[in-house]
Amino acid sequence: MSDPWWKGAAVYQIYPRSFCDTTGNGVGDLAGVRRHLDHIADLGVDAIWLSPFYRSPMKDAGYDVADYCDVDPIFGTLDEFDRLLAEIHERGMRLLIDWVPNHTSDQHPWFVEARASRESAKRDWYIWRDGHPDRPPNNWQAAFPRGPAWTWDDATKQWYLRLFLPEQPDLDWENPEVVAAMHDTLRFWLDRGVDGFRMDVIHLIGKDPRLPDVPEELTKIPTVALHDDPRTHAHLRGIRRVLEEYDHEPLMIGEVFLLSTERVADYYGRGDELHLAFNFPPLFAPWEADAWLGHLEKAQAEIRSRGAWPSWVLSNHDNPRHRTRYGESLARARAAAVLLLTLEGTPFLYAGEELGMRNARIPEERRVDPGGRDGCRAPIPWDATALHGWAGEPWLPWSRDAEETDAAAQARDVDSVLALYRRLLSLRRSSRALRTGTIDEARVAGDVLAYERRAGDERLCVAINFASEDRALALAGDWQVRIASDGRGEGRAFAGRVAPDTALILAPA
Ligand code: GLC
Repeated sequence: MSDPWWKGAAVYQIYPRSFCDTTGNGVGDLAGVRRHLDHIADLGVDAIWLSPFYRSPMKDAGYDVADYCDVDPIFGTLDEFDRLLAEIHERGMRLLIDWVPNHTSDQHPWFVEARASRESAKRDWYIWRDGHPDRPPNNWQAAFPRGPAWTWDDATKQWYLRLFLPEQPDLDWENPEVVAAMHDTLRFWLDRGVDGFRMDVIHLIGKDPRLPDVPEELTKIPTVALHDDPRTHAHLRGIRRVLEEYDHEPLMIGEVFLLSTERVADYYGRGDELHLAFNFPPLFAPWEADAWLGHLEKAQAEIRSRGAWPSWVLSNHDNPRHRTRYGESLARARAAAVLLLTLEGTPFLYAGEELGMRNARIPEERRVDPGGRDGCRAPIPWDATALHGWAGEPWLPWSRDAEETDAAAQARDVDSVLALYRRLLSLRRSSRALRTGTIDEARVAGDVLAYERRAGDERLCVAINFASEDRALALAGDWQVRIASDGRGEGRAFAGRVAPDTALILAPA
């Protein structure tokens, strides 16, 4: 059997609000995504993951869905979506969309009906509990704002569970009607031709109806980072069966926000749950060779050992961009691109990282997100004009170096971060070793993390120097530099040293 398409793929995440505005309202839209499809295709990725574009009151920037089967007018229309999908497919790429199954918006007609009365037919689509208005039914903690994960509904005198905002009530997946309705939302998009889903906080959907308290010492931690109920696995198998009704190999990649690779690995099931799971511990790792060696070995021990395939991500719409996390260093961000695109597994890029973007500083009066994540959601600068290719002043301020990071300028500059990402993705495309080969000989020698990727006769060596001084690296045999994150010495013999905060891909000479 040949490998599924997503094993060797590189995926590009688009946060639609921040990508490109074509209407002048300052919010990115689907037409803006369509406008820049050549940028994405030229970058050399295989698939796009689009964060939510559903109808939404935007309390959580679209992760509060009011209609799973429609496009919010701020982003466009279903016709515009179909056109975008067709143009993605024309370029030989695939499209994954976000799916938010744990909670809806409080404006979703299901919740409006549920909330109307205790007798409502949809009441038990959500999780309601009796109690005293001063005492939430259990000690679970919301992600933002921090505090009890419950909201008191004064009209019907009950609490409802919401692990995020009060405007994001949790669905009750123990109710078969909810399961059936949510499966239908998947079919709606699969019928339109989407190639898979990124499943939002998927580890939260199964819940013990007794809603047991967590131990007292864990009550400072938001429940999203703790919850690991076995019921979720049966739900995942059910969702997987829906995807398997389709023969174009739709992918399910789940956000499993558990900060332990062992526990994340369980969500692959026995090859019958998630195809891929986000593994966040490496995203939180410092810029240190030993830390990365540890994560690479964990991926082997916990994920590869069960025949599953890892995924890797450095930046997304919920966390400070990796350039910022790594001390704002452009050299490190460039070296990290080599790491991301050469590890064994499916890499996920976050739009803007291919331009070396860092977090924007957001003045207090411009802050939008209740979770404090605006900095990584700054708009993408497309060109050097005053609005950088946006039709209106963006909803968030530009990142401070929008001038140097604009995509058009970088496309013309062979030394740019964009040019580096293009070289890396193009090498990946031509190299079975990098796409689906094994990872071997991983080791750290004096701040340099080195490993080999192999497939058949093909062999590449990757060396990343995490130190701020140059370091020696002894390798058996003769090697030639294929790609250097600082652009130096490509095509020449490897001389046994790696520059500070620099990564090399070497091929046997
Ligand atoms: C996920 C999303 C995040 C959202 C949350 C609630 O963690 O990535 O942006 O706020 O779920 O849906």
